[in-house]
Amino acid sequence: MTPTVSIVVPTYNEAGNVARLYDDLAAALPALAWELVVVDDDSPDGTADAVRRVAALHGNVRCLQRVQERGLASAVHWGVQAAHGEIVVVMDGDGQHAPALIPAMVEALQKPGGEGGADIVSGSRFLSGGPVEGLESPRRLALSERGNQLVNLFLGRTLSDPLTGFFATSRRLFVASIPRLQADGFKVFFDLAWHNRGATIRELPFDFRKRQSGESKLGSYVLWLLACDIVAKLSRGLLPPRLVSFVGVGLIGSIFHFSVLYAALAAGAAFWVAQAVATIVALVFNFSINNVLTYSDQRLRGTLFWKGLLLYSLIASLGIVANVSTAQLAYVQLNGHAFLASTAGLVIDVIWRFVVSNRLVWGGRR
Ligand code: GDD
Ligand code: MN
Repeated sequence: MTPTVSIVVPTYNEAGNVARLYDDLAAALPALAWELVVVDDDSPDGTADAVRRVAALHGNVRCLQRVQERGLASAVHWGVQAAHGEIVVVMDGDGQHAPALIPAMVEALQKPGGEGGADIVSGSRFLSGGPVEGLESPRRLALSERGNQLVNLFLGRTLSDPLTGFFATSRRLFVASIPRLQADGFKVFFDLAWHNRGATIRELPFDFRKRQSGESKLGSYVLWLLACDIVAKLSRGLLPPRLVSFVGVGLIGSIFHFSVLYAALAAGAAFWVAQAVATIVALVFNFSINNVLTYSDQRLRGTLFWKGLLLYSLIASLGIVANVSTAQLAYVQLNGHAFLASTAGLVIDVIWRFVVSNRLVWGGRR
């Protein structure tokens, strides 16, 4: 039987949650023809095997085990492309999203606009009025509020929960949007709303529960990623979010760069020496911060961190040669204008560094 509704669930290390998820769905959807499509990124805890065990018992479960791909957003896109139902529902696999909301979501999607129907229906964590259990810490709650303001401003809507991970729409609308959606990142609903600005969106309240087991993969770096994502969207796809983040980190690194540069010049160093020292200080800063912010999803730790720093330094040192010689050349041409000369060197450097290290230093699992 063709299902009406496909429940798409991205998972990473949710082995302990999937059997329960199926049971909760089955209990909440007795009257619907539904299927569960789990998209797992080859989780080390064996989530894919756990899903296949559930599938052995029930005919309406499939597992896409992705061995070479990573990331929440692209996992959701894959799941939607594999879905058989006319309606797709996207939700977390950790028990935080209440399946009891799904029938109301489906009903709203099937109604015409005038009668409270909508093109996209989302589950809002902030409409029910009660405390939001799933956002455990005050820090997490504050983070969420800040993010909401930023996103609403940008979307030109006033959604109570524009960053929710629980929503439903027609497969047709979602599939048509995929070519324009961001494969990196995790803000799938926001992305979908941004690319469908004419669509009607309806929010339904639900209680965001505590995770059943395992832990959240999101930290405070998400606000930074959100800001980078917005800049990327404003560039109309010209700049990918990662490049925006890389350049953003580089801009902060350049504050270090110029402080060291002018300090060294003031201490009487030759221009090329000052530029070289400033560039090395900025290099270590840039690597460490990019590792946490730009590449939070493939952060290098332990020995991999040091190997990465070494490789990054090698790549960067080639850039530095180009940087220092370009800067020196410009310095002579511009009659000793240190700021412009130094900037010219940096621009060459950043482009080289991003293109090569994006692939060689952090690109291992992509
Ligand atoms: N396939 C895949 N790949 N799944 C992933 C990945 C990944 O890289 N990262 C996370 N997931 C899965 C998790 O296993 C979970 O089922 C779901 O995506 C959401 O991840 P959580 O780690 O549970 O996120 P959260 O609960 O902290 O964040 C919630 O709020 C965010 C907005 O603040 C979620 O609802 C997010 O979807 C939402 O964007
Ligand atoms: Mn969650």
